[in-house]
Amino acid sequence: MPATIIMGGQWGDEGKGKLTDALAADAHLVVRANGGSNAGHTIETDAGVFKMHLVPSGILNPDCTCVIGSGVVVALDTLLEEMDGLAARGVCLDRLRISERAHVVLPYHPILDRLEETQRADDEIGTTLRGNGPAYADKVARKGIRIADLLDPASLRRKLSRQIELKNQTLTKVYGEPPLDLDVIYERLINQGNRLQEYVVPAEVLVQDALDDGREVLVECAQGAMLDVDYGTYPYVTSSSPTAAGACQGAGIAPTQVRRVVAVYKAYSTRVGSGPMPTELCDEVGQTIRERGREYGTTTGRPRRTGWFDAVAARHIARLNGVTDIALTLLDVLDAFAEIQVCTAYHLNGGTIDYLPARDDLLVHVTPVLTGQPGWLSPTTTARGRADLPDEALAYVSFLERLIGAPITLVGVGPSRQQLVPLHPEAVPAQAS
Ligand code: GDP
Ligand code: IMO
Ligand code: MG
Repeated sequence: MPATIIMGGQWGDEGKGKLTDALAADAHLVVRANGGSNAGHTIETDAGVFKMHLVPSGILNPDCTCVIGSGVVVALDTLLEEMDGLAARGVCLDRLRISERAHVVLPYHPILDRLEETQRADDEIGTTLRGNGPAYADKVARKGIRIADLLDPASLRRKLSRQIELKNQTLTKVYGEPPLDLDVIYERLINQGNRLQEYVVPAEVLVQDALDDGREVLVECAQGAMLDVDYGTYPYVTSSSPTAAGACQGAGIAPTQVRRVVAVYKAYSTRVGSGPMPTELCDEVGQTIRERGREYGTTTGRPRRTGWFDAVAARHIARLNGVTDIALTLLDVLDAFAEIQVCTAYHLNGGTIDYLPARDDLLVHVTPVLTGQPGWLSPTTTARGRADLPDEALAYVSFLERLIGAPITLVGVGPSRQQLVPLHPEAVPAQAS
């Protein structure tokens, strides 16, 4: 059975974790494709709130194997802490697998992330400071250390000593920081490798075998496609490709093996960190959205920037990723508004455009062309079927579908597992928890 990709359609935090958990009820395998501990994926069940950073969001489903794919950069401390936390809450980790090809976030990566951000001064990206950018930079520069290296002490020592020598020159000579100690880092990595050894596999073989056997495979992306290093708001992006193409690469799946690309969009926009956000609301409306949507970062706790739905950006992402269907989350947050605005085009330099300019100096100057839609001013949180949603809410959904150019098959009306409304008969219904 071909694969389904779950990706973020905006700037991250769209509710990918919740959707992955829901669709994983019928899946054999969930593969996390990209990113690292910069991600924070929330799942709310009767057992409480789970915040995943590296463990795939299918792990709460007892029949689902969860793979940390080759495209992920793994912060070992975070992963082990997360695994311990899940085990302490009774979640069985026998079904967790880690790709031997995944790269390791090393202790110098978060340090360099912080130093590089400081050096950017007013142009800072607002990274999560988890070391993701420097880890991906080393991967592409062929200076990375992979999970497989942790299991080969001699090779690890050789590769690590070369890297620490180089990084210590940068730390001391460029930044005036103290050097790092090879032995301390090496010992720690060996210990962490020993703990993780039993989970390490050739992940792409596992994934391809599952597809050959006709099993349902889900690919879970981190971040959102507007943070893509190629087609996002560069340079205010992450360092991997949270796209359908990136999902294939990171999970070890061919494009021809993908049946479905589900993009998760919020019913409005949010963004954490710096960079252009054409529909941002720095007023009371934005604050109301923030409070109603509990828009504070899952990983860093930072308040998220909020704004109206940006259909120009949404369509850009839907087209580039061949989005087959959409899950529209946090619709309930809009229950309180008599009128809801949607950005249908941008004003720029006295004209109107319907695409995203590549130049960030232009993108910061675009202002949204807004179209008002009637609100519904009634709670949607108890809706479980299409018939339970107010007409105005369904009209809003249809309006967005037409603008984005893909069908909205699921709607989120609250954080819990049950608060997912299938709009089309083929959409996978929310599971009972
Ligand atoms: P992810 O990174 O895409 O997995 O999303 P996050 O977990 O970082 O952020 C989404 C937030 O919205 C979390 O706090 C979820 O519990 C919450 N959430 C998800 N879907 C809904 C929804 O439909 N309504 C509401 N009110 N909250 C939701
Ligand atoms: P999930 O998977 C929202 C943002 C950071 C920053 C930029 C670069 O939970 O949706 P990085 O640390 O990746 O170098 O930071 O990307 N960012 C996210 N924003 N959700 C995420 O993940 C994010 N991961 C990175 O805030 O602006
Ligand atoms: Mg998140």
